This record gives sequence, C-alpha cells and structure tokens, in this order.
Amino acid sequence: MNFQWYPGHMTKAKRAMQEDIKLIDVVIELVDARIPYSSKNPDIDELAKNKARIILLNKYDLADPTHTKEWKTWYEEKGYFVALVNSKRGTGVKAVHEVIKEACKEKIERDRRRGILNRPVRAMIVGIPNVGKSTFINSFAGKACTKTGNKPGVTKGKQWIRLNKSVELLDTPGILWPKFEDQRVGLRLALIGSIKDEILNITELSFELIKFLRDNYKNVLEKFYEIEYYENEIDTLTAIAKKRSCIQKGNELDFDKAAGILMDDFKSGRLGEITLELPEEEE
Ligand code: G4P
Repeated sequence: MNFQWYPGHMTKAKRAMQEDIKLIDVVIELVDARIPYSSKNPDIDELAKNKARIILLNKYDLADPTHTKEWKTWYEEKGYFVALVNSKRGTGVKAVHEVIKEACKEKIERDRRRGILNRPVRAMIVGIPNVGKSTFINSFAGKACTKTGNKPGVTKGKQWIRLNKSVELLDTPGILWPKFEDQRVGLRLALIGSIKDEILNITELSFELIKFLRDNYKNVLEKFYEIEYYENEIDTLTAIAKKRSCIQKGNELDFDKAAGILMDDFKSGRLGEITLELPEEEE
C-alpha cells in the first residue's frame, strides 16, 4: 500500500510555529503511545533546539504497558522528560506540572540568580493531527481555559492561558505533519486512524493489522471474535465477516464492512492494549 498525503498549508504552519517557539521556554510534545516513534515529527527537534523538551505518551490507555515503559526509558535516555497521560480521562495530566518544573529547573534557577522572581514558564503543546492536543489542553487547563479577547476585528495577539502562578500555556497548539518517507510510518499512522479513511483501502489495511497481531499478539483475534486460527489473513477476515454477519446484496460476504469492524475494535481499544512498534526497531 502506498501512502501519500501532503497538505498544502504545511509550510505556512511550520513558519508560524517557528515564530511561536521563540516565545516559549518548554515544548510539550504529544505522541501516540501506540506508535511513539511514527507519531513524532522529527522537524520539531530542529525547531525546538535549545528549549526544554517534554514528551507526553498520550492515549497510554490504548497501548501495551510493557512497551510504554520501554518507550519512556528510550526517550529519557535521549534527554527528554517523559510522562504518560490519558487526556480523555485526565489520568496523569496533573502530574505534568511537576514535569514542567523539573524540565525548566535550569531556567528558573537562572532567572533567580538574575533577580527575576516568579516569572512564569511559557509552554506550548505540539503534535501531529489527532494525537490528542485539544483534549489534553482542555484537561490540563481545566476551568482556567476561558480565553480572553480575540474577538473578530480585534488585533490577533498571542493568547495565553495562565495555568497557575508558575506556568502559562499558549492556547493554540502547534500542528506538525507526520513524516511519510518511510512506508512503515505511513502504515502505522493509518492503523491508528491518523490518515483520512477515504484515501485508504480498508480491507488491505485490515490485512496488515491481522498479520501484525498474528505475529505479536497471539490469539487476540481468535478470542475476541471467537473464531478459529488461520495462517492466512483472507481466511481470518472471512471468519470475522461470517461471525459478524457482514453480508451484502447477493448474499456475498462484505469484506469492507468486516474490515471496518476490525479496525474500529482495534482503534477503540476493544481488542486490548496494543503497541505497534518497539524502540529497538528504531535504533
Ligand atoms: P488533536 O487536537 O491533536 O487533533 O486531537 P483531539 O484532542 O481532537 O483528539 C483526537 C481523538 O483522540 C479524540 O477522539 C479524543 O477523544 C481522543 N483522545 C485524546 N486523548 C486520548 C487518550 O488519552 N485516550 C484515548 N483513548 N483517546 C484520546 P474522537 O474519536 O475524535 O472523539 P471522541 O469519540 O472521544 O468524542
């Protein structure tokens, strides 16, 4: 399967982010805990150099806890401060305040030596589309999220959300686009639902998921759908289609429908906690 997806406004967004980052002390980057490598855009390393860096492994509720731990260590060894969050539920979100303090320790100390006291740390959220930026900001900022100004016709200044006396958050997240040069990255982004469905062949995609699960999460499909084990992905999808009565006109099996059901069960976490890539593959 070939993945191509280049939004036209990419360059403009990148330029805007370059400007925003100048105002920032710490960049908080969200990645999807199921694909912590493929959901990270490497451009941000260049844009955010010399800034304190935090990686949030978001949607950790959907990922395999053993691998999430490995990824946390992997990023920590690369110099990032790392935390696990489930932005939808709010789990781990409060703890991010401590991580910010830790990541900005040097800056706070430097300010103190210069006699600057209580200057809030300025933070910005970045990440690829659908990784959970808005959900995280809503959960992190809570009631403080009431925005000021920005009425139509009024000068569009930067809007900051004052979280407490020590942190201010830029209210608009920086959107980064994933890197598509590596086809494996494209495939994994498609599997978690970060590429628009219209440009994908859902049945082919479901075959990739079936192959991956067969090799890495033995029997998960057999147990969940109460089907037999098949070596071949077509046979597995056929069994799912029969089990879920995916029938189209002419009494034929509807493979697209069965593939849709399978993809939804995976994306929503109903198949269990699953991680699609491991740190050692990326070394
Ligand atoms: P974005 O701003 O980065 O584009 O992402 P956004 O916050 O819109 O979140 C994208 C989807 O991911 C949303 O689901 C959101 O609920 C879900 N999400 C965000 N954080 C988490 C998390 O930690 N765990 C889980 N399981 N899901 C998370 P949606 O399907 O678009 O909406 P809804 O069905 O939740 O209403």
